[in-house]
Amino acid sequence: MSDYEQFITGINKKTGINLALYKEAQMKRRLTSLYEKKGYRDFVEFLLALERDRDLMNEFLDRMTINVSEFYRNGKRWEILRNKIFPLLLQSNKRLKIWSAACSTGEEPYTISMVLSEHLPLSQIQVLATDLDENVIQKAKLGLYPERSLAEVPNDVKMKYFIQEGSFFKVKDEIKRTVNYKKHNLLNDQYESNYDLIVCRNVMIYFTEEAKDQIYHKFSKALRPGGILFVGSTEQIFNPAQYGFEIEDTFFYRKK
Ligand SMILES: C[S@@+](CC[C@H](N)C(=O)[O-])C[C@H]1O[C@@H](n2cnc3c(N)ncnc32)[C@H](O)[C@@H]1O
Repeated sequence: MSDYEQFITGINKKTGINLALYKEAQMKRRLTSLYEKKGYRDFVEFLLALERDRDLMNEFLDRMTINVSEFYRNGKRWEILRNKIFPLLLQSNKRLKIWSAACSTGEEPYTISMVLSEHLPLSQIQVLATDLDENVIQKAKLGLYPERSLAEVPNDVKMKYFIQEGSFFKVKDEIKRTVNYKKHNLLNDQYESNYDLIVCRNVMIYFTEEAKDQIYHKFSKALRPGGILFVGSTEQIFNPAQYGFEIEDTFFYRKK
């Protein structure tokens, strides 16, 4: 077994995260730079240290998960969601079941609620938001962001749903109340079913082809017929028909 394989086995035992399903060259590069900075010589030494040191484990999780996000990321896509996808979904149902998968620090699920609030009162909006990383979930619940995370937020939305606190912006409680956070690993955990909309953006790029294939099958099962999967702007699905998807718009797939 190579030292990276031993590392993968150890991390899987300790955390349930299977690094073998993440693109290897990219992951190795990120982790090598971390352990070298900390003064370890190889993956085996690094694993031993991680097993003992909770802070180092948190740093490792931070490095492997890449949590960058922003509100209204790729703004044009959110206009399609607002002007085309939500009206379509709301034709058949006024209570939408929505999942923001790999939500990071909360910008994405809060954006979903802000956009949907143009069609429905907030009291009728519920979004499930999940991530593998408990640290980002804590930050999401806090809902405090630097100005640069809001660069794409339309001005009226900024006025309506944020409170400025020094150089930070806080999401108002009325928006926070629409989002429920839960820890969830897309590779291991059960998926609920009957979703109208699943938003999963900017995480599939880190997975191997095999892992992506499994996840798209599971998303397809989790959507109701006619439900929509919204993916990231570099994450077009190659041959969507194999998962029972039709293209609804660029980066939006409809379950048949
Ligand atoms: C780059 S962020 C994307 C955030 C947001 N979806 C967006 O597009 O702005 C990727 C997120 O995927 C999460 N992640 C990585 N592996 C995961 C897994 N196996 N299951 C669930 N979330 C995962 C990371 O913790 C990180 O918060």
